[in-house]
Amino acid sequence: MDRERKCMWGVALSAGQSEGGYQKGGKGISISDCIPIERDRCFKRYPLPEKDGHYPCQRGVEFYENYADDIRLMKELGVDALRTSFSWARIYPQGDDVQPNEEGLAFYDDVCDELILAGIEPIITLSHLEMPAHLFEKYDGWQNKNWITCYARYAETLFQRYHKKVKYWITFNEMNMALYLPLAVGVGVDRAENKEEAKWQAVHNMLVANAKAIALCRKYSPHARIGSMVAYSPVYPKSCNPRDVLKANDLNRENLAIADVLVRGCYPSFLLHKFQAEQIGIQMTEMERKELYNNRVDFLATSYYNSNVASTSEEDGKAAGNLFGGVRNPYLEETEWGWQIDPIGIRICLRDLYDRYQIPLMITENGMGARDAVEDGGITDDYRIAYLAAHTAEVKKAIEEGVDVIAYTMWSFLDQVSASSGEMAKRYGLVYVDLDDAGKGTLKRLKKKSFFWYQDFLRKK
Ligand code: BG6
Repeated sequence: MDRERKCMWGVALSAGQSEGGYQKGGKGISISDCIPIERDRCFKRYPLPEKDGHYPCQRGVEFYENYADDIRLMKELGVDALRTSFSWARIYPQGDDVQPNEEGLAFYDDVCDELILAGIEPIITLSHLEMPAHLFEKYDGWQNKNWITCYARYAETLFQRYHKKVKYWITFNEMNMALYLPLAVGVGVDRAENKEEAKWQAVHNMLVANAKAIALCRKYSPHARIGSMVAYSPVYPKSCNPRDVLKANDLNRENLAIADVLVRGCYPSFLLHKFQAEQIGIQMTEMERKELYNNRVDFLATSYYNSNVASTSEEDGKAAGNLFGGVRNPYLEETEWGWQIDPIGIRICLRDLYDRYQIPLMITENGMGARDAVEDGGITDDYRIAYLAAHTAEVKKAIEEGVDVIAYTMWSFLDQVSASSGEMAKRYGLVYVDLDDAGKGTLKRLKKKSFFWYQDFLRKK
């Protein structure tokens, strides 16, 4: 019970999906500003946005203008923590600027001050599917080592500026997305001759950037805790056919390979073997190896939306999911977007990570995307309540079993632009935002039934 109380229970947002304020206050164009609406995973193109296109993140849900009122609502909800991100392009508009944008820094001072005043702990991600588009234009993606210098400068600025306000930092959102949806995290492999090599070089450079950020955080903000994040959806074998089991094992191993380096400070042997066997030549200096080892994360954060199933049979139907899908699990229901709902999976996710790493964990995203309807001035989202009730119950069980969960921040506080599709129709919020896929609406906030459910949950915890 004590451990459960030690866990911060909160909500999550991301700058790129909620803030808007496109080019306001000196902000540069970030890659999220360049994402059009597209039902399917849409991280398919390079920036920049076309003049007349509809790019929903440019407006987001106007957290930039509304943050004070939104934080008042969070206080009313009674959360311990808000996990959100700062916009890299708001602070370094081009990414490779020498000086930061003071207006951007002042904005996040205000956001943190409001949060602290409301008794809400800020948990800040440095880059959540968001980075200056200019970096792409000039240096391509993370496979270029110049990105490391730019990111480290940005990180140093944040730790120097906010060391009195922010006690929890996350270097990257879902780093392993680099393997499945590379463009979303700034990995521009499409133009590379050897795509596989470019991808892993980019991952390595991100890991070095992560290590540099950890070193800088320890220098400027020694009392803060710093971690990084992956998306972990445990993969189950479809049958006890050893081939299915092996396939599930392969996928889980690959999925956690980046977390292995974050936590252990060195590459897992299966990955080194893969590099050798597939002639993937990574530029990795001895100095970088040392940096990885000396700067390991204090905690590991993960998102959890669904589990996956692996099968070697061609005949199984497909299911969608966060990062990658699998075959359909006949025991589970799914959302309209085909993400299968598996509350026990979140407990398995926590067990897997804790058994493997033995360091504190955060669930920084967990929630249900659904089409909510406003009826008689309210939103009766019983399906979301059922989702959250079942998932939080499993998180509590994992904590009782001994897993060290230091935060659970549900996705999301407000409805915001879907990261993968740019839709507003795919809503995750406890608070409805009146905005549609065509960009029409008043942006008025309306508490859903799930808001009151979570408020009650937080009171009782
Ligand atoms: C996670 C991302 O992968 O999934 C979030 O970190 C995202 O930014 C969430 O919003 C849900 O995905 P989507 O595509 O439904 O918004």
